[in-house]
Amino acid sequence: MKQTHNVIDLFCGCGGLSEGFQMAGYNIVLGVDNNDPALKTFLYNHKGSEALNADLSAPETFETIEKIVKEKKVDVIIGGPPCQGFSLTGKREFNDDRNKLYLAMIEMVKRYQPKAFLIENVPGMATLYNGEVKDEVLRRFKEMGYNIDCKVLCSADYGVPQIRKRLIFVGLRDGEEYFVFPEPSHTPENYVTCEQAIGDLPCLVDELGADVMEYSQAPMTEYQKLMRGDCNTLHNHKAIDHKQFVKDAIAQVPDGGNWKDLPKGVGESRKFHMAWTRYASNKPSRTIDTGHRNNFHYKWNRCPTVRESARLQSFPDDFVFLGNKGQQDRQVGNAVPCLMAKAIAVQLLKYLDKE
Ligand SMILES: C[S@@+](CC[C@H](N)C(=O)[O-])C[C@H]1O[C@@H](n2cnc3c(N)ncnc32)[C@H](O)[C@@H]1O
Repeated sequence: MKQTHNVIDLFCGCGGLSEGFQMAGYNIVLGVDNNDPALKTFLYNHKGSEALNADLSAPETFETIEKIVKEKKVDVIIGGPPCQGFSLTGKREFNDDRNKLYLAMIEMVKRYQPKAFLIENVPGMATLYNGEVKDEVLRRFKEMGYNIDCKVLCSADYGVPQIRKRLIFVGLRDGEEYFVFPEPSHTPENYVTCEQAIGDLPCLVDELGADVMEYSQAPMTEYQKLMRGDCNTLHNHKAIDHKQFVKDAIAQVPDGGNWKDLPKGVGESRKFHMAWTRYASNKPSRTIDTGHRNNFHYKWNRCPTVRESARLQSFPDDFVFLGNKGQQDRQVGNAVPCLMAKAIAVQLLKYLDKE
């Protein structure tokens, strides 16, 4: 019988990374984060997992984790520590307080010696301090006996309707092998587009939608069918009640356009390069953010709903987001796209199932 692999997710947020691992058949034992609404969402969607609200920069957190995990084996540790404030200042000292969140990953791997671990970060981390931060991470884990490698992956290459690049480290404990990152399943010619991803969702022109509502039509594409699965209730599809002048400005931006398409005098309060961007219906979306309200639906004159952003992040429709709208937007925007996480998790099984 195939064994399932137990996973701990650090900095789990609402659990995009966990969701991908769960889709690939792993067992998510525990998620740790210090954001309560995100943890509520994590728990709601990962029944059977534990969720711990704790500060991963505090040493006592590791004792609490030990009490929860008890004698359960920990096969894989995954996590996306925020890298704001990363620093190698002064003596280029990695143990600097500001790097504590990264050190949490190192501490956990040291304690549990998992068969594998995965760290996710923004691509910019690879070039920070001329690559010294990345090299230091590689060195630290090598010292602990792991074969570790890293690569920048693009989510659209794995069937996600979004261009989102992430730096992924994977370390393997046993043997001589290094992880070979999964081959893309998609190329720019057949990337899943915004319209293919969200075109079946109610337009919300004469209504604002609701936390729970009905689908208004059948799915039209393979991707829409995949996201719906057996789900027959639409969650988190609620539009922002934009002021009329905002709607009027968006109405003047064409499919795939931005502030440069606006006539003189319209929308001039926001003129930076990302302002007033309408997603392009025939392309994947650009990186979903945490709710900055600069991106608009490719067709309707409003920001995407949480469900639309979740679709673009490849969260299945039965994944429900809890908390207020701002908290939900943050959870979705922070997440690792589930289908990209799944592709890595499936590839990792090749190494774990060898034993
Ligand atoms: C980029 S998000 C992780 C997203 C997650 N991997 C996913 O796929 O959904 C980073 C998370 O780190 C959490 N975080 C930041 N500082 C923390 C700390 N000191 N202790 C625990 N969690 C922290 C944030 O609340 C946030 O949810």
